[in-house]
Amino acid sequence: MRRAATLAAAAVALAAACGARAGSSAALPPVPVPSDNPMSAAKIELGRLLFWDPRLSGNGSTACVSCHQPSLGWGERSAVSRGYPGTVHWRNSQTLWNVAYYERLFWDGAVGSLEAQAQSAAEGAVAGNGDSAMMEMRLRLVPEYVRRFRQVFGAEWPRITHAWQAIAAFERTLVSDAARVPFDRWRAGRADALVPSAQRGWALFNGKAGCVRCHTGPLFTDQSFHALGVPRLPQTGAHMLLQITSRWQNLQRGVAHGQYRASDDDLGLEYLTRDAADRGKFRTPSLRELRHTAPYMHNGALSTLRAVVDFFDRGGGEGAPKSPLLQPLGLTPDEKTDLVAFLESLSMDAPPAVTAPVLPPTEPLPPRRPPAAPAAGATHGR
Ligand code: HEC
Ligand code: HEC
Repeated sequence: MRRAATLAAAAVALAAACGARAGSSAALPPVPVPSDNPMSAAKIELGRLLFWDPRLSGNGSTACVSCHQPSLGWGERSAVSRGYPGTVHWRNSQTLWNVAYYERLFWDGAVGSLEAQAQSAAEGAVAGNGDSAMMEMRLRLVPEYVRRFRQVFGAEWPRITHAWQAIAAFERTLVSDAARVPFDRWRAGRADALVPSAQRGWALFNGKAGCVRCHTGPLFTDQSFHALGVPRLPQTGAHMLLQITSRWQNLQRGVAHGQYRASDDDLGLEYLTRDAADRGKFRTPSLRELRHTAPYMHNGALSTLRAVVDFFDRGGGEGAPKSPLLQPLGLTPDEKTDLVAFLESLSMDAPPAVTAPVLPPTEPLPPRRPPAAPAAGATHGR
């Protein structure tokens, strides 16, 4: 709650910076930063170390980077995420590219800040599965962390809430570099930056294909929630661990037994609003960096951009409920190719190379002093 006001302010600032959302397509504005977690180079570097550090998980095996790999667009290749060892997740691991611009995080918008998100990821049973008090204790046994936390936050010992702040600061640096994005170079005036096919795709995007109804502004999202009727994964019925996770997730969110026994479907925004009209709605994702973030959709059900375009061309999925904004589009094969070329032009030609940091070692604390010796002359018994 404390943070709600600053985030709302940041969101307003972002909206203002974006200008009119519909159809606008400038490069990304500066990232919004909450006033109670200002950025600094030392904080970002600490956050980078923590992002790679598996000590922030239940059994010390599963760092953030395990499911958000830089070489896979800060996501994963599998349809649904690998999950914490012994589990599988029920949703596709989201890219962290440009994550700082979202007003709500997760596919169903369950969380409102990167700081809160980091905690829920590290603690969540099918993600990091860590206990916060235990993770904090682990950090306190790493002398270099003690030094770095003290320098950045001024507290004597590392605190777990400061860890989430540092990780959030690091995530706010994962922003597409406009100079590497063909579409951004083209909008900035370099006429040869976009191949003709992608230019035709941009026209289709705003016209016949109607994608711009939901994918607007520099981030190519209305930050809203829509039901598309994305198909279930073919393996849903037979995959035991996926079924366990789906039912457990539903139970966690207060869904009645009768309902989740009837279907393992992911209800999306309905979990938050408790309104059946929101069933199956998910947050419109950004369309930046898609070349690096396959597979697509909340459950990773579509593995290529061509499959996504085919899906929208059919007017979305079969299942009700579905947004009235989706209608069959009647795209020709050439038009589909153009649309895919445009989508690809929103990705960096080559994302900056990322090297994994060397993690600082854990060391035992100095032994505690024994209780004060009895006064001299008292007893000398052995
Ligand atoms: C076991 C795999 C796994 C681990 C470990 C994991 N994540 Fe995730 N992450 C996911 C999945 C899956 C989602 C989507 C979940 C959902 O929508 O319910 C996600 C979503 C996110 C999002 C939201 C992105 C968006 O567009 O809304 C952020 C931010 C994020 N993770 C950061 C982290 C951080 C920071 C850590 C470490 C503290 C972490 N993740 C650990 C799998 C993982
Ligand atoms: C009614 C709003 C709406 C319209 C219109 C729409 N989208 Fe989407 N799009 C969404 C939502 C919501 C999702 C996520 C759905 C999910 O995961 O269940 C999505 C997902 C996607 C994805 C997957 C991205 C990822 O990271 O997984 C791509 C690519 C995409 N849309 C492209 C398009 C294109 C191209 C068009 C036009 C042909 C289009 N969209 C039209 C709302 C829309």
